[in-house]
Amino acid sequence: QQRSYHERVLDHYNNPRNVGSMQKNNADVGTGLVGAPACGDVMKLQIKVDPKNDTITDVKFKTFGCGSAIASSSYLTELVRGMTLEQAGKIRNTEIAKELCLPPVKLHCSMLAEDAIKSAITNYYTKNPKAKQTDLGGTGAAMPKIEIEKLPADAPTQA
Ligand code: FES
Repeated sequence: QQRSYHERVLDHYNNPRNVGSMQKNNADVGTGLVGAPACGDVMKLQIKVDPKNDTITDVKFKTFGCGSAIASSSYLTELVRGMTLEQAGKIRNTEIAKELCLPPVKLHCSMLAEDAIKSAITNYYTKNPKAKQTDLGGTGAAMPKIEIEKLPADAPTQA
């Protein structure tokens, strides 16, 4: 019997939250860009940080990937808004996978979201070396050389 997508995945897939881009040159914006080696799917995640309290005030994503990757990134954007960088850096893919009821073969899709937030935080730290740095742990922040701007601009997300 074929396993169908869980309704929470479908909800985020059909109505992805916070799709879009921010001006990546702004000092208060951290941009994460990661790819999943297993399938080639790509996720771009951007956070806007209030430097006064290291809190994420806005977040946007673009995912060129499967439904689970789109749902994972959409859910992640809801999760991290309002969090400090330290809290956001502690999010693990297992949390995302549990919320969305992802099957084992789709775990790497949620890993993409964990890597993306770590990568965005790392980029923010690079631009703001005086910010209080937090240990991101895990793998994370592996930045592949992908130029997401070269991907179709009129398709923020696709299956
Ligand atoms: Fe690769 Fe989902 S199949 S990110």
